[in-house]
Amino acid sequence: MSHPNPTPNPTPNPTPNPNRPSTSTPPPGSPGLADATRGRILFGGDYNPEQWPEETWHEDVRLMKEAGVNSVTLGVFSWAKLEPYPGAREFGWLDRLMDLMYENGIGVVLATPTTSPPPWMGRLHPDTLPRDEDGRTEWWGGRQHFSHSSATYRRYAAAITEDLAARYGRHPALTMWHINNEYCTYDWGDEAAATFRRWLRDRYGTLDALNTAWGTAFWSQGYGNWEEILPPRHAHYMKNPTQVLDFKRYTSDMLLECFAAERDIVRRHSPHAPVTTNFMPIWVGQDAWKWAGEEDVVSVDIYPDPRDPFGAQQGALIQDLTRSQARGPWMLMEQAAGPVNWRGVNHPKPRGLNRLWSLQAVARGADAVCYFQWRQSRQGAEKFHSGMVSHAGPRGRTYQEVKRLGAELARIGVEVTGSHSPSDVAILHEWNAWWAGAQDGRLSSEFDHPQVVSAWHRALWEAHIATDFAHPEHDLSAYRLVVVPQLYLLTDAAIDNLVAYVRGGGTLVSGFLTGVADEDDRVRPGGMDQRLRDLFGIHTLHEWWPLDADETAECDGFRGTLWSEEIESGDGVAEVLYKGGELDGLPAVLRKERAWYVSTLPEPTALRELLTGVAAGAGVRPVLDGLPPQVEAVRRGDLLFVLNHGREAVTVEVPGTHRDLLSGQQVTECLELERYGVAVLSS
Ligand code: GLA
Repeated sequence: MSHPNPTPNPTPNPTPNPNRPSTSTPPPGSPGLADATRGRILFGGDYNPEQWPEETWHEDVRLMKEAGVNSVTLGVFSWAKLEPYPGAREFGWLDRLMDLMYENGIGVVLATPTTSPPPWMGRLHPDTLPRDEDGRTEWWGGRQHFSHSSATYRRYAAAITEDLAARYGRHPALTMWHINNEYCTYDWGDEAAATFRRWLRDRYGTLDALNTAWGTAFWSQGYGNWEEILPPRHAHYMKNPTQVLDFKRYTSDMLLECFAAERDIVRRHSPHAPVTTNFMPIWVGQDAWKWAGEEDVVSVDIYPDPRDPFGAQQGALIQDLTRSQARGPWMLMEQAAGPVNWRGVNHPKPRGLNRLWSLQAVARGADAVCYFQWRQSRQGAEKFHSGMVSHAGPRGRTYQEVKRLGAELARIGVEVTGSHSPSDVAILHEWNAWWAGAQDGRLSSEFDHPQVVSAWHRALWEAHIATDFAHPEHDLSAYRLVVVPQLYLLTDAAIDNLVAYVRGGGTLVSGFLTGVADEDDRVRPGGMDQRLRDLFGIHTLHEWWPLDADETAECDGFRGTLWSEEIESGDGVAEVLYKGGELDGLPAVLRKERAWYVSTLPEPTALRELLTGVAAGAGVRPVLDGLPPQVEAVRRGDLLFVLNHGREAVTVEVPGTHRDLLSGQQVTECLELERYGVAVLSS
């Protein structure tokens, strides 16, 4: 492709204030997911027609209709096609596609293409390219090679967004805006250094306050001039942890600011269309609680490994988290109909698994079931990543299963969409705690935050106890039980919230290494906040005793893993003791009235039994009694989803008489489910 030399700057746009991410919640009366679904489950996926000749588009539409596809996401990676040289606008092909979709009753989730700038941008404006912590440039040739801090990038992004929104904001095919794609970049470059400083000025006001928060008295790091402050670049030895923590906060905020700038543009042109951006599941780079409040629709991409024995639980965890962030129905923006191509070994989904995991997402609140991508690519880095239409074409099993699913989703849409079932149990999870707890210089690198969160979620999932997620500063009063797998960092407000929750009658169970640091990652006196020590009946926390990967800590009745603690407890609170070793006779599990502290990670069965017992004491019931272990039951509104994650058929007791919305059959007392079978029961 050749093009004339550039007109450097497209539409002028004031440089955004990088210090202050927009924190506007959706304006009152903003559209939501229901405006896009209108009683149907959205079904479809990313559609990249620019990879195909136009004849294929017509074949695509025919197959989409046959499969019940009612939604496609267009334009995610179209920037180079839309703007082949600076300031150019090639909209003709997209006009034809938007019209084609409208004529065929397929809604369009239109993406701003700003995740993958065209090569000319990097060539003409190297300042748009991010640098890694070693100062190396992230060149074009892949994707996501943009610096969130680059004023030039932001100007171009705003300009193409403005023109897209002006052209298609009122197009009848448009159902939703999709901003960028999986925001996940970092930048340690010079322009980022400048925006980092401005972000820090906003946070701390003075250098003195920054020096205090960062503890720069340590290792002679005191800053005397703002210009001395850098992103945490490659250093000889361990970096300042609070600097690293702030860099994570700042990065999430900068990306959020990029999102908000584009969101505000599209909202101006189409106030009727909800706006989203797709999260990656439990992605470290985005404080998703903060982000979710900025979107009209919360959407996520979920790709459990089909070979993972806990794949269904991994999916459930992300679904529970996303539903909680959305506070109701949410959008499954991407999943794979077959294999992905970014694991070491990439397995296809066995027959029935795509349907099972899709309906699992619907059970947990998804009102949209979409894929990456519609048609498997023949070229490019993802040519071995599955699509809804695989290389085998429409005769292939993948498309045939997609078609069946499309018909089933159409059948249940009216009864399902919009409904929501809050749980009695909340799991607390928070990004600052994750970031701070993952620093260099900690006592053990044998575990990470998501692993511990997942272990606790899994224990409750296996006990058939429904869970929401919550932020530690949220109002928790509606929950009978709150569990804290691990929150290394807790703000004062969060601690007060937990204490008030227990005083108000709630039951709290906390895992190890919780409440250790304040929001500057300063260790609280005593190694755990005094209010929490009082709450759990901990007199003195003498030492932390991390465990090696193959080591366990014997406790009365179970083995602990990963971690143990040398605790001197107050009277009458020791519930389970360590047995043998240095901690012999000291409390492993403490209980003071309704507050529990678990100073190790019990092995899976033990954690499940512990939490099941505490939940029962708090009046929390499993979704259904007597379920076989491989069967999951989920309530959504008035419906009961029953899902067989096993490879063998099962019989499940479902008291009463029901109608299975999928099969149309009446079900009385007993439900037969084939391998990977699902029923959606209405009573
Ligand atoms: C992500 C991206 C998609 C695609 C898929 C592959 O979810 O958003 O563009 O790369 O991964 O799994």
